[in-house]
Amino acid sequence: MRLSSLLTSTARWGRAGFALGALALLSGCDYNFWRMDGHQSTITVAGPVARSQLEVFYVTCWVTLVIFILVGGVLAYATLKFRAKNEAEEKAVPPEQGHGNPLIELGLIGASVLALVIIAIPTLKGIWYTYDVPEDRKADTYEITATGYQWWFKFEYPSEQIAGTGALTTGNELVIPAGRPVRINIRTIDVIHSFWVPKLAGKVDMMPNRANFLWLQADEPGYFWGQCAEYCGDSHAVMRFRVIALSPKDFADWVAQQTSPARNVTPKPGEETPKAQFASLRTFKQNETGITDKYEIAPLEAWKAKQFPEKGENAALIAQGKALFASKTCASCHEVRGHGAAGISGPNLTHIGARSMLAAGLIENNAEQLRRWIRDPGSVKPGNKMAKGYLDNNIKLTNEEEVALVAYLQSLK
Ligand code: CUA
Repeated sequence: MRLSSLLTSTARWGRAGFALGALALLSGCDYNFWRMDGHQSTITVAGPVARSQLEVFYVTCWVTLVIFILVGGVLAYATLKFRAKNEAEEKAVPPEQGHGNPLIELGLIGASVLALVIIAIPTLKGIWYTYDVPEDRKADTYEITATGYQWWFKFEYPSEQIAGTGALTTGNELVIPAGRPVRINIRTIDVIHSFWVPKLAGKVDMMPNRANFLWLQADEPGYFWGQCAEYCGDSHAVMRFRVIALSPKDFADWVAQQTSPARNVTPKPGEETPKAQFASLRTFKQNETGITDKYEIAPLEAWKAKQFPEKGENAALIAQGKALFASKTCASCHEVRGHGAAGISGPNLTHIGARSMLAAGLIENNAEQLRRWIRDPGSVKPGNKMAKGYLDNNIKLTNEEEVALVAYLQSLK
């Protein structure tokens, strides 16, 4: 049997074994529980790099399980068989103790070496495989640079150059072509972060002054959760991102859309615009989640729907929001290409309306949550620079201004 097929069957039996073990321990849970699935599962994986790492995990688990059963069995046997069975035996002098049996000792050393070799072979193979894109796939590799900031991720696409501005830049949503190896340059602008998409690849640290990289691949189009996996300050735990893998055609369409300037919505002469509603915003509990079920049920479809203009756009309100984006100094930190905003310290917002999440994957990008964020970013993500910017520049927004800014940002598709 070839090693690879042995490993594949190991992985299959590994999952079956773990599911059975879990079955014995717990009951009454849902389908995803039995599959050991979840947004950030490392057991139900979706790409070759994560699969290779999972195989090493299973091999290690099975070897250590066998050792546990053997050692535990011998221990249990000796404990029960030779225990004192009555008061006389308890008081008796123990029999003469044996020392050193060369055959047993050599056997144990041999067994330990064997166990380590069994673990080492797939481990070394996995390290070799996951380190860099295999030679025969290099020509098909797509390259992206990911940079960690406190507390969000910037993604740059060096092969998608935009005249006058440089590489296509997005924030917090890494869109990749499915079925192709993606090599990601791992960088940081400040402290150490760590790039981790559990279903696609293990984590690699984003280190100052060190050019790390990793590769990953999504088998099929899909929507995946990522997370910073290295403590990096106040909001480390909420420093998340998403990976959206698209079919070749969808990916090409996305690139074409993203490399175009920000969308302009202007009132047509003589056009009646609907009267805007300026209802006050409800208050949110601390740590209240802001993601609706559609991102649980069909996340990729929900993401795709975000690529199109929102229903019932109010052109006059959007124009008002665009003016506020400049006057409230938003433009000094954020870029909106084609709208005169060229800040670089915050995420690029040229196509913010087409992203599924806000605040580094923490809340859904809809009118209510966006307004929650721009009203009080510090309550959503403690310690972030936008909250500090509001204080430093004494920025306060009225209900009307919030609604206009939300309408403008949602229009940036
Ligand atoms: Cu960035 Cu933790």
